[in-house]
Amino acid sequence: MVVHDIQASSLNDIVFFTMSKSGKVEKIQSIRGMNDLVGREASRWGAWEQTIRRVLKSFHYQEIRTPVLEKTELFVRGVGGESDIVHKEMYTFLDRSEESLTLRPEGTAPVVRALIQHHFHLESGGNRVFYFGPMFRYERPQKGRTRQFTQFGIEFFDDPTPMADAETLILVQTVFNELGVMDYTIHLNSIGDAESRELYTKELKNYLNKHQGDLDEDSRRRIETNPLRVWDSKIESTQEILTGAPKISDFLNKESREHESRLQSLLKAAGVSFEMNPKLVRGLDYYSKTVYEIQGNSPALGSQNALGGGGRYDDLVALLGGKPTPAVGFASSFERLSLAIPDRDEKRRSGAYVAFVGEETSLQDEAIRILGLLWGLGVRATADYTKKSFKSHLKSADRTSSRYALIIGGDELAKKEIQIKDLESGEQVPCPLSSSLRELEEWVQKSDLS
Ligand code: HAM
Repeated sequence: MVVHDIQASSLNDIVFFTMSKSGKVEKIQSIRGMNDLVGREASRWGAWEQTIRRVLKSFHYQEIRTPVLEKTELFVRGVGGESDIVHKEMYTFLDRSEESLTLRPEGTAPVVRALIQHHFHLESGGNRVFYFGPMFRYERPQKGRTRQFTQFGIEFFDDPTPMADAETLILVQTVFNELGVMDYTIHLNSIGDAESRELYTKELKNYLNKHQGDLDEDSRRRIETNPLRVWDSKIESTQEILTGAPKISDFLNKESREHESRLQSLLKAAGVSFEMNPKLVRGLDYYSKTVYEIQGNSPALGSQNALGGGGRYDDLVALLGGKPTPAVGFASSFERLSLAIPDRDEKRRSGAYVAFVGEETSLQDEAIRILGLLWGLGVRATADYTKKSFKSHLKSADRTSSRYALIIGGDELAKKEIQIKDLESGEQVPCPLSSSLRELEEWVQKSDLS
């Protein structure tokens, strides 16, 4: 997709044409496939990110943040010009100095670009990195598939051993476990190293050429440009032809075969279950040897059942101009995971709600003083400054899932105390309101406000 440069004058035109003729201001909707995340769903995602970060930390991964915009060439070279991602799905445009830029469709190529630029893997312990962030693909939106999606990914550099591959899969299993995702299958395959693939590609090409007439247009073109990508075709008739095609697993050289069988033994030793899937090639060009995909088994996932995918990419760093560096990694998206993570009831009450009943400014002064104390002590606390009656305050306390209501009215102020109501048990106790708020602080220390 190419978005053309917009000059300032045409920006005014856009505003003019989007106002309706009747003079009524039209609502502006979000872009198709790019969703807002609000309320409970946003806080669920926040909680998942915290869980994932905790696991990643225990596996010694460090965070990396790269820009959302990169030079288009990075993905053309890295992911491959014949991949669906580059061929059909990128948000690519010319900037004001006519440079072709692309909203990143994935995170691996940008991380490799950063590795070559900063050599961060040479710092001690810096060879395992993770990222969270938005990725962009112009795909047909459906359940679990959006045009802007949030990936979390890991990349592990400088280690050619099958133990590194195994570690990434153990990490994936640990993350899924912690998130409560249980019903999935790890599909594993090897697409061999460059030497194995060269041999295989020749055979595949011969086979596909014999069936040219029955293939879809994209696949026919790919016979010449990149035959392995024919496996990505979603066209049923092409997939039928592929059932008789030679399989990459029969063309692995000794090194690739040994790598794969060692990985299988390691996974068995670590208690990671997997299924070998000889048809799995993954849709990105940079892979070599190990490829894997985590497929959710729940029918609720529909056709978008890939909960994550990854593999080894030993040639990518050199392909992008760096020193040859073996690497393996994985990524998953929150959009997909959200369909598989059980919806645990998070409606537990916590923290305090400050209710000031009345309109006097002295009540407001006390309320803001108490809130300041609570926030300073790290307590989850809130108030609704627009409410005045006791009843409407209690409704707000309920809506904010607060555990306690700290109530101050004119009578309480005169007696220099507040009422603390436990909204779970209904119990209510007074608490002195001294100038230092010492008694309230003591109450906070001994109460369960988490
Ligand atoms: P990928 O298979 O293209 O691999 O994407 C990884 C995961 O991102 C998918 O399994 C899926 O869960 C999610 N995903 C992809 N497209 C969408 C979408 N349109 N909407 C929602 N979720 C989506 C990669 O991106 C590689 N960079 C993974 C990797 C890291 N390989 C090595 N290191």
